[in-house]
Amino acid sequence: MKGKTSFYLLTDTHYVSKRNWVDGKPFTMRERGDQIALKTSPEILEAFLEKVLADKDTDTVIFTGDNVNNGDMNSHEDFRARLAQLVQAGKKVYVTTATHDYCGMGDDENFFSSCVYTETGSEPTPSMRKAELFDYYYDYGPKQALSVHRESGSYIVQLGEGVRMVLINDNGNGRSHCGLFEDGVAWLTKQIKAAKDSGNYVLLAVHHPVIAPWETYRHLVEFELYGGYRELSKLMCETGVRVVFTGHTHVQNIRKYTDEAGRWFLDVSTTAAVSAKGKMRFVTVDADAGVCDVQSVGIERLPGVDTGGLSAYDYLYGLNFAGRVEKFFPLLKTDFDRFLDETDGVLPAEKLRGHKTLAKLGLRFAASRKLSFAAKLGKSWRSLTPEQKKQAKETGLFDVLFVIFRHIYPGNAPYTPDTLEYMVLHALTQRADRFVEKHKIEKVQKLIPPGSSLTEIAEDFLYNNRTGDDDAIRFSLN
Ligand SMILES: [Fe+2]
Ligand SMILES: [Fe+2]
Repeated sequence: MKGKTSFYLLTDTHYVSKRNWVDGKPFTMRERGDQIALKTSPEILEAFLEKVLADKDTDTVIFTGDNVNNGDMNSHEDFRARLAQLVQAGKKVYVTTATHDYCGMGDDENFFSSCVYTETGSEPTPSMRKAELFDYYYDYGPKQALSVHRESGSYIVQLGEGVRMVLINDNGNGRSHCGLFEDGVAWLTKQIKAAKDSGNYVLLAVHHPVIAPWETYRHLVEFELYGGYRELSKLMCETGVRVVFTGHTHVQNIRKYTDEAGRWFLDVSTTAAVSAKGKMRFVTVDADAGVCDVQSVGIERLPGVDTGGLSAYDYLYGLNFAGRVEKFFPLLKTDFDRFLDETDGVLPAEKLRGHKTLAKLGLRFAASRKLSFAAKLGKSWRSLTPEQKKQAKETGLFDVLFVIFRHIYPGNAPYTPDTLEYMVLHALTQRADRFVEKHKIEKVQKLIPPGSSLTEIAEDFLYNNRTGDDDAIRFSLN
């Protein structure tokens, strides 16, 4: 009997030290322009760790990079101090690092520079260098490892009886090579073989995705994927490694890759802990049955944060990105100037102010469109039943789009093929595809992966056409 082994996995905690900012426009605008919560990143981490600490049966916690947001020492000090407390509480902590965890030396493409935000601007603050990360986090992984690949900082640990995990450190600078070089690949191959030969299942964890969340992501920003993802996919298929846990995209997503011989593996991508609907994974491996069970755990409250009566999710969702536009959308009709103020940093407020009358009319026109407008445009109107027509006339087009946006990061998109929203938007994108094809609109064609279409791209965002549930999966390790 080998028994069961469980662990928690958090990624993209993007921790920002409270010493790095004072309340004021500079940091508020910095956060608004982002897609994650920065000011409350310490409280979010705290809320997750409360749950981890409350679970006395699970002793392992894994962090897979972008642990801090801007490669500054203040945040690393706070973050590492929190890891030390976890260890004191009896937890085993394994950490890898990624692009946001260090600052470039000016001779590479890592563009992060660490700073402290003041009331009026920002000032530089000491930075972490890439070469220092291994020693800095040595106690949280490499020290407990069965083997370490020093060049990359990758290592392998015994998670429990019959199960090992390779934590690949791929903190390349994102726009060049992030991933293992030849020597690292040889080390990884050797570790997988040794683990299997000694009766262990092998799990992998790495920051960058091995399977893109959507094909269009791979097409447009392939450099964001794990460098050598094809090679790693081949290795996983050949050696029967069934799962790699990833982060970086901030997207909650479970995807399956199957090669020509029918061999497969899963990429379990976990959303950023500091996303509005941040989650961590709770994974259990039953080494006797050869089964891996992946669940997801979110937080319900933000201890110490005044959310103005809102749930943690609603509060965080309204901070930035699409959530901020949605939150202040009603102002479009009543107070256009305030709408521009509140969405400054998300929408191009300056440009919109420059063409204010046109912007106001255009946005108000778009905002008042109903789903029926999209149905007529996409020529699906006639095929709708009277009830569907009624529903389409009553449903705001932007309300539907906002719901779609709400699911981009937390996954499990909402509109399955049997829904009115799907039918209407699917028909609309099909019509757009015909239009783009007929008029050879190169600017749009460039965005579409070869052999794909706008319709296929849209499908990825309309419903979960992947493994059925981005939050949970149970699979065989054999
Ligand atoms: Fe990240
Ligand atoms: Fe990242």
